[in-house]
Formats: sequence, C-alpha cells, structure tokens
Amino acid sequence: MGSKRAMLGNGLGDLLGSEVPTAKRFADLFAGSAAVAIHVARRYDLPVLAFDLQNYSSVLAGAVINRKVAVPLENLFKNWRQRAKTRINGLKIPDASHISKKSVSEWRKWCADQGSLPITVAYGGHYFSPVQAVWIDALRASLPKSDPARTVALAALIQAASQCAAAPGHTAQPFQPTFTAKKFLLDAWNRDLVAKTRAVFELLAKQTAKQVGSAMVSDAEEAARGLNEGDLAFIDPPYSGVHYSRFYHVLETISQGSCGEVTGIGRYPDPKLRPKSKFSMISESEDALDSLLKTVSSRGAKAILTFPDHECSNGLSGDIVHEVASKHFTVGGGKVDSKFSTLGGTSDKKRKSEAARAARQHAKELMLVLSPK
Ligand SMILES: C[S@@+](CC[C@H](N)C(=O)[O-])C[C@H]1O[C@@H](n2cnc3c(N)ncnc32)[C@H](O)[C@@H]1O
Repeated sequence: MGSKRAMLGNGLGDLLGSEVPTAKRFADLFAGSAAVAIHVARRYDLPVLAFDLQNYSSVLAGAVINRKVAVPLENLFKNWRQRAKTRINGLKIPDASHISKKSVSEWRKWCADQGSLPITVAYGGHYFSPVQAVWIDALRASLPKSDPARTVALAALIQAASQCAAAPGHTAQPFQPTFTAKKFLLDAWNRDLVAKTRAVFELLAKQTAKQVGSAMVSDAEEAARGLNEGDLAFIDPPYSGVHYSRFYHVLETISQGSCGEVTGIGRYPDPKLRPKSKFSMISESEDALDSLLKTVSSRGAKAILTFPDHECSNGLSGDIVHEVASKHFTVGGGKVDSKFSTLGGTSDKKRKSEAARAARQHAKELMLVLSPK
C-alpha cells in the first residue's frame, strides 16, 4: 500500500506545499492508501476530501481527515482487545510455529470449519496464520461502537492486517508452503497482529486534520462533478490492466466484515462483489481519463496528476496522459524518480512488460500541474 508515500519525500511533498496553500479544498480522487489525503489534511488549513471505489480506502482516510481533535486513548484499546478475547476464549487455535505442507493443509481445514468467523474461513491458513485470522475476526466483531474511535480502530486493523499478510506486495496471491516460499510464510505468520493493531491505533488516534474533511466511496468522475473553482484535485489513476480490487480484496473484506465464498489460489471473493474500473480496461482507460479531466476542467478546478512515465498495462502511458491533459488544461510540472509497483510482480500476460519483474522497480513518474485554460 501507498506508493505515493515514498514520493511525498521526493518532490510530491514540495509540489503540494506550493499548490495547496492557495486552494480552497483538496480532493484526492483516487485515494488508495490515503497517504496523500492524510499528508495534506494534517499539514494544511483546508478541508480534504478523499474518494475511491474501495471501502477500505475510505476507512483509512476517514480515520484522520474526518476529525480535528485527537481520539482520547483512555482504555480504548485495552477494552477493545478484552471484548475480542472474550469472543475467542475456549477456541483451540492451532499453533502455526512449524510449517510443512501437511500442517498447513490441516490448519486450512481447521480455519474453513470456523463458520462464525468469516475472515478465518476465507483467509486463515492462506494470507494469515490461524491465530492471526481468528484475532482479525474477533477484533473486527468487537470494534468500539461509536465514531471516531470505531473508524480509527477499523483503520488500525486494516493496516495491521496489511503488514501481516503473507503475500508479495499485495494480496493477490498468498505465499505457499513450498521449499522456497516457506520462510516468507513463517515470517509473515509470526507477526504479532494484535501488537501491530495497537501500535497503529495509538498512532492514528493522535493524528488530526487541520479542518474537518470527508472520505467517501465514489467514482472519481462523479466526485469531480462536485468540485468548484479554487479546488485542487489530486489525480493518481490506476496504471494496471488488472482491477485494483483483485490486489486489495483482503483489506476490502476486513473493512466490510465478510466477503462470502472465496475461490482460487488468491482466495478471491465473487467478482460481482469487487469494484471494476474503466481505468483498468485497455479499451476504456483513455476515454475514462479524457472524460474525468474534462469534468475537472469544466468545474474550474486545478489539478496535480501523477502517472508512471512509461507504457502501462492498462494501455495508458506518460505520453498519452500528457496529451489528454493538454486538451483540457495548461500543463506544467515535470518528472521525478520513483519506485514503480508492479502490484506483486507475478507473471500475467495481460500486464505485458511490467509482468514478471520485481515487486518494485526504479522508474520515472510524471507529476503534472494542470491549470484551467
Ligand atoms: C494508483 S492507485 C492510487 C494510490 C494512492 N494515491 C496511494 O498513494 O495509495 C489507484 C486507486 O484508484 C482506485 N480507483 C480505480 N478506479 C477508480 C474510479 N473510477 N474512481 C475512484 N477510484 C478508483 C483504486 O481502487 C486504487 O485505490
């Protein structure tokens, strides 16, 4: 999660610093990990709006950008943990400290039998050890009742689960108990999910926005229709020809609480339940970008647009993005060095040239400043 987090320290933070102070509102139209929305909300005195097709993104953003005051910690985490523990007292959870194909297969069966624990059934013995999965279910079912503590707690659980997931980069496919991958599986499964949840919870609780903003599940173009003159949009659209919901379904399930039946080695929920984006369809991506930028420009808003400066598997490239942007805006800005995420780096014919590379590659990224003509 959060490829833009690194760029904030590498040019993007400075660019935001020169553009945000004169804006009326800041709207992150493809918020993802919410790293950029939270960065701006914490530093600048303007409302921040965050949008994404995925619910987990709204939870991460909303945990900070929705409030101006810290969440008093009191005994919130201790009580949350205690409520969760009460739910799982008496459950004989298999200890996954020694991994073999046979033991993993037994744990998967054990997890699949825990009918009242949806995340354990879907992902236990795959992305998470049985203990981690049971705790995710128990914590998810015992969240604090009211906001802002509830959203902060859920965001902490999502982030902790992301830090523990036994998968390369993104949750598209879990590590398997093979000779080579066993050590990665063991390393991930040994991570203390409850301690990580606590650490993130206490960190997020302290973070505040300068002004109250809002986080919503929404299509970027629909969100852009609500922009006004003086607003600054941040546009970091998909570059992958595979829908992002394929890479983040585990986090989405945790944010929703359950996902129904899952299939395949990646344990995917039903495709009908996973959001699809025109930006991840080769035949639609350029029109989708054109239409979005037309809308942003028609609203009189300014924008910062970032995109990898090479051909991407959704059919867009730095050159195409620049060309489309020039139709609707006066374009400034330039390029910065970045780490390009191959979203797991596995082989996939649809993903053309970036397939089969390492999970993160050195690359250049466009960082364009779009001013209404
Ligand atoms: C390149 S990622 C953004 C990463 C984000 N800037 C960060 O730092 O984590 C693209 C995001 O756009 C979302 N997305 C895809 N299509 C969308 C659409 N039509 N409207 C809103 N969000 C969309 C995806 O769910 C994904 O989170």
